[in-house]
Amino acid sequence: MRTLIPSAMVALTLFSCAPKTGRSPVYLNPSAPLEDRVEDALSRMTLEEKVAMTHAQSKFSSAGVPRLGIPELWHTDGPHGIRPEVLWDEWDQAGWTNDSCTAFPALVNLAATWDRELSRLYGDCIGQEARYRGKDILLGPGINMGRTPLNGRTFEYMGEDPYLAGELVVPYVQGVQANGVAACVKHFAVNNQETRRTATNSVVDDRTLYEIYLPAFRKAVTEGGAWAIMGSYNLYNGQFNCHNKKLLCDILKGEWGFDGVVVSDWGGCRDDDEAVSNGLDIEMGTWTNGLRGAASDSYSNYHLARPFLERLRDGRATAEQLDDKARRILRTVFRTAMSPEPHYGSFTSPEHFAAARKIAAEGLVLLKNDGTLPLSVPEGGKLLVVGENAYKMMVVGGGSSNLKTKYEVIPLDALHEVYDGKVQVEWQRGYVGDVTTDYNKVVTGQDLSESRSAARLLEDAVSAAREADVVLYIGGLNKSAGQDNEGTDRADIVLPYGQDALIEALAEVSSRLVVVNISGSPVAMPWADRVNAIVQGWYGGSESGHALVDVLTGAVNPSGKLPFTMPLSLSDGPLKTERQYPGVKEEGKQWWQEYYDEGVFVGYRWYDTRQIPVQYPFGHGLSYTRFEYSDASVKKAADGWKVQLTVKNTGEVAGAEVVQLYIADREASVERPAKELKGFEKVYLQPSESRKVSFMIGREDLSFFDAARHAWVAEPGDFEALVGSSSADIRARLEFKL
Ligand code: GLC
Repeated sequence: MRTLIPSAMVALTLFSCAPKTGRSPVYLNPSAPLEDRVEDALSRMTLEEKVAMTHAQSKFSSAGVPRLGIPELWHTDGPHGIRPEVLWDEWDQAGWTNDSCTAFPALVNLAATWDRELSRLYGDCIGQEARYRGKDILLGPGINMGRTPLNGRTFEYMGEDPYLAGELVVPYVQGVQANGVAACVKHFAVNNQETRRTATNSVVDDRTLYEIYLPAFRKAVTEGGAWAIMGSYNLYNGQFNCHNKKLLCDILKGEWGFDGVVVSDWGGCRDDDEAVSNGLDIEMGTWTNGLRGAASDSYSNYHLARPFLERLRDGRATAEQLDDKARRILRTVFRTAMSPEPHYGSFTSPEHFAAARKIAAEGLVLLKNDGTLPLSVPEGGKLLVVGENAYKMMVVGGGSSNLKTKYEVIPLDALHEVYDGKVQVEWQRGYVGDVTTDYNKVVTGQDLSESRSAARLLEDAVSAAREADVVLYIGGLNKSAGQDNEGTDRADIVLPYGQDALIEALAEVSSRLVVVNISGSPVAMPWADRVNAIVQGWYGGSESGHALVDVLTGAVNPSGKLPFTMPLSLSDGPLKTERQYPGVKEEGKQWWQEYYDEGVFVGYRWYDTRQIPVQYPFGHGLSYTRFEYSDASVKKAADGWKVQLTVKNTGEVAGAEVVQLYIADREASVERPAKELKGFEKVYLQPSESRKVSFMIGREDLSFFDAARHAWVAEPGDFEALVGSSSADIRARLEFKL
């Protein structure tokens, strides 16, 4: 039976196809102003075509307008590299052979570089890889604040301080978008744990929200110009964040003037009416109606599919609501897939691997060193390497940031490259952590099977250590469940798999023991006083092994600084009650409730203000050289105060120092943290070289958020500018008055 197209449709279709006048319609004209292209395309679209764009058509794509030649939008994980292709409607790998990417370091590793230029380089490289793979929206970076060290996704984020994360997310976003790819900054907002992430309501006061949990997102939008934002799974203020009126309409699109698209987390959209009215633009999904089971023709069941059409036809939804979504989506298409400038990107180039290696190395943090580093093993001597993380591939796993990479250099291979023929390198596993080698069909090819008992593994390591000149321990976490992994939080910050006992046993028999902790989140280090040197390593991506050995051998002078506090124990932290974390179930409330009672006292803001000793403080990181601070001053300027100082490299090797500026408000009507980061500069200095460093302090740097007035307030009174090499290593205290 022939399908009869209503006459109006025929007329409309004829009218809106590109007229054969030889002049291409405005929306197809790359040099036409963006908004003209948007309006022209919108005027040619049918209601059904507009609705189709607002939801998923496959696991990682949302519809375009085939009739008008407007392409679909392809979304891709993740923040550390371009996820391997999956099947149209499955999470399973599609088994392509051209999608092995460059795996860049985890974002916590980037944060530890404290280097804005490296963040731009990172964004540019990953943006090139996304573009080359034909992806329009990169689902990253993640910038949720490190409220608890237990958060399973700490490795995907940029630490515990909103200023650090904000300063680094801006160049990352700009780098990605320079390639005609939208950065989709996530997960908006107050999404600070994995436990019950789709069923917990974050209860946060406005001051805490504006001072801690929004600033990095605000900078990503207002300074970085982010084209996309991903709503988070949790609730805030009693509404799911993928359609949260206060966050998406009032703050993001209202106060910040965001003109891009809000994309739901996969299955994060939970309500038909709120999806229409509360700022969601593209509903992406795991299954129909959120995370629940699939249904046939599931994409047309999505909240912004059939239910949206029904509401548009019966008046419960308006054309204006639809057009606002469609405009934002079209704007995204004309910024990416139909970008005015052609972008072709590049994939797994030597430059990308070199960038990955540089970023990984620059983010390694030397926590302690009695001179045992850089490694020096006598010719013909023996270097014993202990620990599963010297061998286990770490680019895989962790959840949606899991990657299939062209290659991964593991630490053991990098050590052999440097030492073979000069020094004997022996490896002892020491413990068994995670034996998985297949991650959703991304197969590592490693054999992690082990027949020895834990006791035997320890004994073998210790007896080998007795014969070694230097012992290099490489352990930590491994992105398996509960160990830095999406969907599961950690249970404690104690090292798993009996590693503390192993390290203690090694310390008993070795007088030259270097410990490298590879993790994406803080771990307790009760053995810190018993080892000679400690390096905080990260999931460093394809070149992680080379980067680590570059630092261990001194080829690269470490310059990383901790982006979060390393507490002595979890119980020292600010989250003391169930209601603070992981939340409580309350009478008559459908969802779990989590109360951010600690307010703004997160991370060092807590430990510093409460004068609680920590293992290693926020901003801490040593070098193989030394830096002297001098001539620090603060002077009133037209638009604030100018802090100046001189930093000198007084050691024998070139190195980089991250000069940090904290502000302390000495008299305020509210309790404020003892200090807050408001500036940092990374300076690279040759031996004996000096450099003047200056910071401008403006009123906004002195302000706190006054919820009653819904405004930032800088109260008159005494302030101090604290300049230092870490939040605890303050080299100059400069008083000034507002
Ligand atoms: C996941 C994650 C999000 C990811 C998305 C697509 O649940 O929360 O970060 O981008 O789904 O995989």
